[in-house]
Amino acid sequence: MSRAAVVAGLGSWVPPTVVSNAELAAQLDTSDEWIRTRTGIRQRHVIEPGSATGDLAVAAGRRALASAGVDGADLVVLATSTPDQPCPATAPEVASRLGLTGVGAFDVAAVCTGFVYALATAAGLLATGVGDSALVIGADTFSTILDPADRTTRAIFGDGAGAVLLRAGEPGELGALNGFVLGSDGTRRELIEVPAGGSRQRSTGRPADPADTYFAMQGKPVFAEAVAMMASSIRTTTERMGWSVAQIDHFVLHQANARILAAVAQRLEVPLERFVSNIERVGNTVAASIPLAMADAAREGRLGAGQRVVLAGFGGGLTWGSTALTWPDLKTV
Ligand code: UT7
Repeated sequence: MSRAAVVAGLGSWVPPTVVSNAELAAQLDTSDEWIRTRTGIRQRHVIEPGSATGDLAVAAGRRALASAGVDGADLVVLATSTPDQPCPATAPEVASRLGLTGVGAFDVAAVCTGFVYALATAAGLLATGVGDSALVIGADTFSTILDPADRTTRAIFGDGAGAVLLRAGEPGELGALNGFVLGSDGTRRELIEVPAGGSRQRSTGRPADPADTYFAMQGKPVFAEAVAMMASSIRTTTERMGWSVAQIDHFVLHQANARILAAVAQRLEVPLERFVSNIERVGNTVAASIPLAMADAAREGRLGAGQRVVLAGFGGGLTWGSTALTWPDLKTV
């Protein structure tokens, strides 16, 4: 039987600076009431000038290593769409700052599905013996790519990082990740994008229109796709596990909007109480969202060893993905 990736440690980090809805409403044509009722968000964390995604990734990674009681890993996989610079990848520097110079380290870019893609990638590397352990981090700082005048995206996104330490183990163990589903639809790329700054724009030789250098999202169609694709990928993962949807104790979904979580719960006909949510405090933290929600729920004692947990993400690309595990006996730090 092939080796599985087993969750052995979990950590997260958000920068200390908090931006409340009231602070946004003082700068933009929005209100605490609109943001709370349309998204479920009350506040978000943002990095200080001069900080970067890698700083958050190091902090979360350090906590995941401590939670697992280890001081190293054979691989570092960083899910991010806001790397410290366009080239090189951020993961090698994160690895070195964690004292892991010399290990395999690379970034995975799948926007809000990045963490699920990174888990699947690391699981494949552990299964094929490329390494015996992997530090998988999701970290993003969307505050650095938002249009300061865009009230919709500024209301939603926040900065943060979450990480798990995976070790090679048996598929039947507590904590083993199984039932992976990954999907994409590039024909809908324009629903979530930063139009400029890549090779297509730079090859023109003309400077970018400043408006095209910001993150842009078409909220309504994204909302509908997020509900449909997370519900269907959860169903497929659940079938692959040999479980029924009703048997799942906790759903940890990408925290895009509290109304999306409610709509997925309704579509799957399961009580909303089974959906972990920390969106009120952190907003949408992109690739950090799922591990950050897991870490917060674990710290609150909500996730018990042996309980059935499904993780699901959806984001730019478009991309989506899910996986499942029975919760391990984890030390939270
Ligand atoms: O993480 C990757 C995946 N991302 C997502 O899943 C996000 C999915 N989309 C959403 O969460 C929602 O579509 C949004 C929260 C982005 C928007 O909520 P909505 O209920 O779909 O609102 P809407 O876009 O239909 O806008 C309704 C109104 C509009 O005004 P008009 O045209 O009706 O006059 C907007 O201009 O609300 C307006 N609006 C705002 N008003 C106050 C949009 N943003 C704001 C705001 N404050 N921050």
